[in-house]
Amino acid sequence: MSRWIPSRSFLRALLVGAGVGVVALFLLMFLLRDRETEAPEQLPAEFNPADFVRRSGNLDVPYVVTDYDVVDAMLAMADVKPNDFVVDLGSGDGRILIAAARTNGARGLGVDIDPARIRESTANAQAANVSHRVTFRRQDLFNTPIGEADVLTLYLLPEINLRLRPRILEQMRPGTRVVSHDFDMGEWRFDQRQRVGSATIYMWIVPARVEGRWTLTTGGRNAEIEFSQSFQSVGGTVAAEGRTARIEQGRLTGPNIRFLADAGNGRRLFEGRVEGDRIVGTNAREPWQAVRAPAPQ
Ligand SMILES: C[S@@+](CC[C@H](N)C(=O)[O-])C[C@H]1O[C@@H](n2cnc3c(N)ncnc32)[C@H](O)[C@@H]1O
Repeated sequence: MSRWIPSRSFLRALLVGAGVGVVALFLLMFLLRDRETEAPEQLPAEFNPADFVRRSGNLDVPYVVTDYDVVDAMLAMADVKPNDFVVDLGSGDGRILIAAARTNGARGLGVDIDPARIRESTANAQAANVSHRVTFRRQDLFNTPIGEADVLTLYLLPEINLRLRPRILEQMRPGTRVVSHDFDMGEWRFDQRQRVGSATIYMWIVPARVEGRWTLTTGGRNAEIEFSQSFQSVGGTVAAEGRTARIEQGRLTGPNIRFLADAGNGRRLFEGRVEGDRIVGTNAREPWQAVRAPAPQ
C-alpha cells in the first residue's frame, strides 16, 4: 500500500486557507467587540417618523417665544375675560393661551404647524392644570377658522399679518380684539399701541362693515346715506331735503359707530350700534335708526 504524500501545492493551499481563516476570525471578533460596546439605540417615547417629513421647511415664521411680561401686557390690552375664547395662531410652547386660561379664566385654541410645539404646549397645559380650557392642534394657521374667536393673538411676521388681514376683517365678528406682538397690519391703523421693554404690542378692534347705502330715520324724516369705509374710518354722504352733505369724523369701534352729519335738521353727532343690516341709534335725546338699503336688482 502506497503512503499519501501531500504535494507542495496542496500544502501551500492549506497554509493560505488557514491564514484567511485566522484573519476572518480576528475580523469577526473585532466587529463583535464593537457591537458590544455600542449603546443600544433608544427612540424617544413620542418618536414619530412622519414628523421628519412634516417638519421639513414648512415654517412660515421661525419659533421665537414672547416674553412673559409681554404676554401679560397683550392679555391686559385685549382685556381678556373669563369665558373669552382666545385663538393663538402659531402657538409655540402655548404660553399665551396657558396664561389666558390661568390668569384670566379664558378658553383657548392654539395651532402650530410644528408637531414638536404641539407636544410641548399640550404637556405645558397639563402641567399648568388648564388642559380642560385650552387645546393645541397641529394645523396650518392659514387653514384655521378664526370666526369663533373673541380675541386673536399673533406673533408672526409683517407679511403674514397682511395675508391674514382680509380674513380677519371678513370672518371675525365686529368687536373681536386682535393683538399682535411686534408687527402691525399695514394700512389698518391700530386702535392701541404700547411699548413693553424692547417689544411693541398692537391692538385692533374688528370694525363692523357698513360700506354702502342706508336709509336713516330721525325726527320723522328720512335721509339717504352712502357710507364709504376704510377699516375703522367712515366717510360718505347724506342726502336729505334735496341737499347732500358730507359725513365727517366717522369712526367704528367694533360694532359702535359715530359720525357727524346733517340729516335735514342741522349738523349733529350720530352714535349707534351696528346690528347686521340695522343701526340702532344710541343718542339718548335724539333717537335715530338706519336700515341697509336693498341691493339693486
Ligand atoms: C414667533 S413664534 C410665536 C410663538 C408663540 N405664539 C409666542 O408668542 O410665544 C411663531 C410660531 O408659528 C409657528 N408657525 C410657523 N408657520 C406656521 C404655519 N404656517 N401654521 C401654523 N404655525 C406656524 C412656528 O412653529 C412658531 O411656533
